[in-house]
Amino acid sequence: MTNEQVVALADKYILHTYGRLPIAPVKGEGCYLWDADGNRYLDFIGGIAVTSQGHCHPKVVDAIKKQAEKLLHCSNLFQIPNQALLAEKLCVAGGLKKAFFCNSGAEANEGAIKLARKWGKENKNGAFEIIVAKDSFHGRTIGALSATAQRKYQEAFEPLVPGFKVVPYGDLEALKNSVSAQTVAIMLEPLQGEGGVHPAPQGYLEGIAKLVLDENLLFILDEVQTGIGRTGKMFAFQHYGIKPDIVTLAKALGSGFPIGAMLTGERASNTFVPGDHASTFGGNPLATAAALASVEVIEDGLIDNCTNVGNYFKEQLENFAQKWPVIKNVRGLGLLLGVELAVPAGEYVAAAREKGLLILTAGEKVLRFLPPLTISKDDVDTCLRILEEVFESLQS
Ligand SMILES: Cc1ncc(COP(=O)(O)O)c(C=O)c1O
Repeated sequence: MTNEQVVALADKYILHTYGRLPIAPVKGEGCYLWDADGNRYLDFIGGIAVTSQGHCHPKVVDAIKKQAEKLLHCSNLFQIPNQALLAEKLCVAGGLKKAFFCNSGAEANEGAIKLARKWGKENKNGAFEIIVAKDSFHGRTIGALSATAQRKYQEAFEPLVPGFKVVPYGDLEALKNSVSAQTVAIMLEPLQGEGGVHPAPQGYLEGIAKLVLDENLLFILDEVQTGIGRTGKMFAFQHYGIKPDIVTLAKALGSGFPIGAMLTGERASNTFVPGDHASTFGGNPLATAAALASVEVIEDGLIDNCTNVGNYFKEQLENFAQKWPVIKNVRGLGLLLGVELAVPAGEYVAAAREKGLLILTAGEKVLRFLPPLTISKDDVDTCLRILEEVFESLQS
């Protein structure tokens, strides 16, 4: 099939929930993608922070093939060796206690919301309210959507699940003032990705870690986008010397194989008991084989590479910004970087794509870069050369 044929068929039979590009990727290797017409792209979207290991990393592909020949699925009625090994790996890496596996970021967040509610019944006289941040993004299922404080996503689906209070991101005083007897948890991204690439300001997460102990609350960190090495640590919270009570993961955990996880610390590890929560596919033999290999690949040098190449990329973007007054700000951590423009970013993303570079937006005016953590400084230079052409063509 050609790109055009795929577009026609999809248009006819797939629900129109996405504004899709007329490109059908059919092959990926490292940081490159090829479409059905044979065009090659430098992929700095990485499936929106999923293919951190690079497309089709041989170790991940091999692990999936080998497991597929043995056992695809057996249900959580049974013991699953890969699941236990993956839980150990993630808990040890994060200094956390227990794991629950599911299939997506939204599902991991649903689990966190449910756990917090039960914890509130048992520990805080039925308190159920969760404080979330403006411009957050936690997923599209109805609970996760209710926690996603962006009107454009919520409006059409009201009434939402009650019990979410919204505060501005990064304002510790506002957060402190919003805590009431009903509050059970604070749920945030350590760096807001979809909301515009906003890293937590200095002292913010540290202040919350103290507040939750003072007020007897749970601290839920959504690391669906930031986790598994993306910011130059296995988990973004490790930049701040804190330990949340619940961490949610998905995206890069399976390098493209769908899997999500909720990790719990000491205070939240005994709340769920058999019957409270479940997921048919969650953590099945195939998904956890893919995830084990994916995490091993990240541990095998990619976190350092993310820091080194990410620092270089950010510096180069800052130099680039000196030349183009339309750039207002460069920000981010590791290889989750954003360039805020004074104008809408969509035209820039489209022009880059025409020249073989895939990047995306975050909010209306931010260019977002989420390349695989395998990229080299040469790949960054290639990206910047294309950006230079894009800015020249749109700014002249
Ligand atoms: C921070 C964050 N949380 C949750 C989600 C939802 O994840 P999923 O699409 O796997 O449900 C996303 C997706 O972009 C995300 O960035």
